[in-house]
Amino acid sequence: MAKRDIIIAPDPRLKMVCTRVETVDEEITTLMSDMLETMYTAPGVGLAAPQVGVTKRIIVVDAARGEEELTPYKIVNPEIVWSSEEEKIHEEGCLSLPTYYEDVVRPDRIRVRYTDENNTEQELEADGLLSVVIQHEMDHLEGLLFVDHISNLKRSMILRKLKKTKKQMVAGNE
Ligand code: NI
Repeated sequence: MAKRDIIIAPDPRLKMVCTRVETVDEEITTLMSDMLETMYTAPGVGLAAPQVGVTKRIIVVDAARGEEELTPYKIVNPEIVWSSEEEKIHEEGCLSLPTYYEDVVRPDRIRVRYTDENNTEQELEADGLLSVVIQHEMDHLEGLLFVDHISNLKRSMILRKLKKTKKQMVAGNE
């Protein structure tokens, strides 16, 4: 496994709609292992392929907390086949928007159909943090960030500050 670089917003690569994966082959399973390592190292609870520069419909998730045993999910071509009418508010963050957290409203529970690392179709029902993280990562596959769910004012403020931070980082490396 190898760690990959996480793209920080604003960046056009985070705004692209990702393409479906035809077959889960070795290239894809390697990518998913790398993504999990990158996510655990960050640390984070989810990561989408476009965040490491691959515009394919792939996400990895592990919503285990604290002392809980690791429960990694490698998810290809996810589709939400059902979501609850009941919604929940959850404070979200994103490895591509470091240090920023905002409340986002989403359906409380979802059922997702996807292809796993063995190229087998799976269905998963999720609630709580797992549901939030899967929905957040699936947004990335449509070129959406969690800040696209909040007010224009807050979004532009966060993106403007991140742009400034990125410029300072580049300047610092020169
Ligand atoms: Ni994210």
